[in-house]
Amino acid sequence: MSKVIYIETYGCQMNVADSETVLSIVQSENFGYTKDILKADVIILNTCSVRDNAEQKIWNRLDYLKGLKRKNKSLKIGIIGCMAQRIDRELLENQTVDFVAGPDSYRNLPELINETDIVPKVCNVEFNINETYSGINPIKTNENISGFISITRGCNNFCSYCVVPYTRGRERSRDCKGILNEVEYLKSVNCKEITLLGQNVNSYICETEKYPVNFPKLIELTAETIPESRIRFTTSHPKDLSDELIKVIADNKNICNHIHLPVQSGSNKILKLMNRKYTREWYLDRINTIKKIIPECGLSTDVFCGFSGETEEDFQQTLDLMEHVKFDSAFMFKYSVRQGTYAAKNLPDDVPEETKIDRLNRMIELQNKISLQNNKADIGKTFEVLIEGFSKRSDDMLFGRTQQNKVVVFFKKNVTKGEFVKVKITDASSATLKGIII
Ligand code: 5AD
Ligand code: SF4
Repeated sequence: MSKVIYIETYGCQMNVADSETVLSIVQSENFGYTKDILKADVIILNTCSVRDNAEQKIWNRLDYLKGLKRKNKSLKIGIIGCMAQRIDRELLENQTVDFVAGPDSYRNLPELINETDIVPKVCNVEFNINETYSGINPIKTNENISGFISITRGCNNFCSYCVVPYTRGRERSRDCKGILNEVEYLKSVNCKEITLLGQNVNSYICETEKYPVNFPKLIELTAETIPESRIRFTTSHPKDLSDELIKVIADNKNICNHIHLPVQSGSNKILKLMNRKYTREWYLDRINTIKKIIPECGLSTDVFCGFSGETEEDFQQTLDLMEHVKFDSAFMFKYSVRQGTYAAKNLPDDVPEETKIDRLNRMIELQNKISLQNNKADIGKTFEVLIEGFSKRSDDMLFGRTQQNKVVVFFKKNVTKGEFVKVKITDASSATLKGIII
């Protein structure tokens, strides 16, 4: 009988997309799939390494899985994704782990899994610069109305703190035709929102067509291919965010008015140490251009405190930038040293832990205040909302998102998941808008 696989995804949206690719690969080799961990013959954890606490979660999870293995002796456990690539040996030494596969070796997973019947520990963490998983239509694992498409893999930016270039290898763009085929596939399964994914989508380039296709062109082609659906993208590197892209977003109704633009720090000294290749002034100029060309654009960011050499003054520059830009939301972190990076080797982790925590709390407090102000300013306005499902709090309420990526809850009426509705905002907290369908 064929083995049944259960997969658990940690980390970024790229991993969500990768898990769908993995499922497609194993299903084409006749493996089964279950959403019930207790019914699985093989449990796969798709992991993240970006900060230490992401890895800690996996070690804890492995402790739990050890218990399942004790009860079911034939159960196999595999680790894939960034952590698999980064610390393959350490993982293989763990008695619970049977196989390890890096982000470029998923096509070999069926073989790898079968080998675990013969050999106790199996591993493939080879990089393959040509691997873009072209030709594989990811299997959607949930009934969500949205789908993800990876358009680039890997990263060449080598921000000094970041482990991604080491876990995902060099940047490569997928063939444009393959991406548009996947768009067609998502259209055929009634997908209402497509997110184009890459570590830096702005550096996408496909040179196999008659004319090179860059990211603005690709997103425009995507929007034209599936005109009744929304298009989103993430992540943009500020150094590569072009006016051309901003204009394409403004000109295409179904490309969402939302840009996620990780700033990381507001201090030029820190940005330089981070090897971000832009200045505070460059970043603010990009923001001004966005606000000028798309006045209704939602803005979000990633930012972290406590990087090597960050003084109170540098940190104040970050708060000042956040205050100035007024992001609608932000993912906020404290610096976590990643072995193998330039910073781990050359820049001391010299901000005390208490200071990191204190700064992170101040950052979160400021952002909550700004999010609340921004959301309150939406009261009275009407937004197009794509319904995603029932609100967690009540079966009488639905929730969805505006183009700006803000969550809105509202009384249900005669509408359902996957529909677009117009909602007038009547109330707001820092995290959510409340409204009524009009
Ligand atoms: N420590 C803390 N945060 C980090 N990020 C990436 N690497 C680190 C690190 N070593 C954050 C950045 C990035 C987001 C995905 O995670 O803000 O944009
Ligand atoms: Fe990491 Fe920088 Fe690449 Fe983003 S752009 S994945 S932060 S190295």
